[in-house]
Amino acid sequence: MHDRLRALHDRLDAHGQAHVLRFADALDDASAAAFADELEALDLPRLSRLIDSVLGHAPEEHAGDLAPPEMIDWGVDDARDAAARAAGAELLAAGKVGAFLVAGGQGTRLGYDGPKGRYPIGPLTRRSLFAYHAHRVLATSRRYGAALPFYVMTSRANHESTVAAFEEAGWFGLERDQVFFLVQGMLPAVDRDGKLLLADRGALSMSPDGHGGCFRALDVSGALDDMASRGLEQLFYFQVDNPLAQVFDPLFIGHHVQAGAEMSTKVVEKSDPGEKVGVLARRDGRTCLLEYSDLDAELAAARDDDGRLRFRAGNIAIHVLDVGFARTIARQGELPVHRADKKVPCLDEQGTLVQPGEPNAIKMEMFVFDALPLAERSVTQVVPREDEFAPVKNAEGQDSPATSEAALVDQAKRWMEAAGLQPPSGPAEVGPLFALDQASFRDNLTRSDLGPVFDRPA
Ligand code: UTP
Repeated sequence: MHDRLRALHDRLDAHGQAHVLRFADALDDASAAAFADELEALDLPRLSRLIDSVLGHAPEEHAGDLAPPEMIDWGVDDARDAAARAAGAELLAAGKVGAFLVAGGQGTRLGYDGPKGRYPIGPLTRRSLFAYHAHRVLATSRRYGAALPFYVMTSRANHESTVAAFEEAGWFGLERDQVFFLVQGMLPAVDRDGKLLLADRGALSMSPDGHGGCFRALDVSGALDDMASRGLEQLFYFQVDNPLAQVFDPLFIGHHVQAGAEMSTKVVEKSDPGEKVGVLARRDGRTCLLEYSDLDAELAAARDDDGRLRFRAGNIAIHVLDVGFARTIARQGELPVHRADKKVPCLDEQGTLVQPGEPNAIKMEMFVFDALPLAERSVTQVVPREDEFAPVKNAEGQDSPATSEAALVDQAKRWMEAAGLQPPSGPAEVGPLFALDQASFRDNLTRSDLGPVFDRPA
């Protein structure tokens, strides 16, 4: 066996994982060296802790002290909103906010060949998800006269193709040094006994460590240091699959800052108790997220006097994070890992690759919302679903490209109508460089803009 691998044996054995060296004798020098790199990089004590926690996982008991969070509803208090918007705008103009896109997921449900951000979602232009987001960063930078930085988290599997998408598009009009890529960490898959699985004779079966891996990734990549050198105070966190995400929304940033919050969340109203969305709640004086699978049916269906669901704050995974808070979580807090039982191809004891028909493996993932209870203060901002949330998750049906495109078309037509234009019978599309919101759509219209595509070059 290769010397470096032999030297690892005892360490692995101390954690019950020496079986991963079972086929190491057969590896050529290059494969053995690559495998040794991978194994040496494992933090075995941490891994053992994580494996123990997922194997011992029991459904969380929710005590009776759950309450809905205090919510800031949109369009209720105009004066308060105006003050918040001004505070958010001031911070943006001072260049103190960065955008943080997490795009390291595997997109298995969509089944698209390539990073999900490359998906051509624009109803008429086929503009990609990446283009929507990057153009919002660009348009906001222009609006406030500050080159706002754009942090993009990838994973090993999609990093190169993601960077290439930006390169091919001329950085979507952004300055090269406005964009900072960071690669998230990986965690191994294990079998039901907690044993590491092999993807190959010289490779573990690994997958991205979840969007909650973003805190650690911000730190190890140097992104936090980059933020410090730019004097950033807040990070606008969002996910790649939602082309309606209003990146850098000054209203949300303003409410967060005015409350002195460390991590805030946008939510949409959940109206059907059965909708599969996590809801925000308060427990022990902190905001937390209840996954839909953890919310018991009675609580899920409970209603307020006005007939609305009591737990209606449906999470849409858009946050503002105080940069200092993100640093504290990255350096001091370990988020819990969640267990997902999946079908993972792996080597059997004879070294043959098997394609399981049933879930055979446990994948471990961290979730960004697990940082919420660690925040002393948190704002929950309700926003209209039709303007802010149309994720691309599945290939068909709910939350698919079809529903997301329909939402983009619907928004474009509503903006046209509000500006006194007759919407077309077919699709319409508004690019972020033309307008970021309904008011700027109306203001930016010229006589030659009649649709159905409203766009400006980068
Ligand atoms: P999802 O939880 O919807 O996962 O991610 P996904 O990987 O996109 O799709 P499936 O579940 O495999 O079908 C929500 C957001 O979090 C990011 C995704 O890129 C997406 O923006 N994410 C998810 C990461 O950045 N890293 C991860 O490890 C997981």
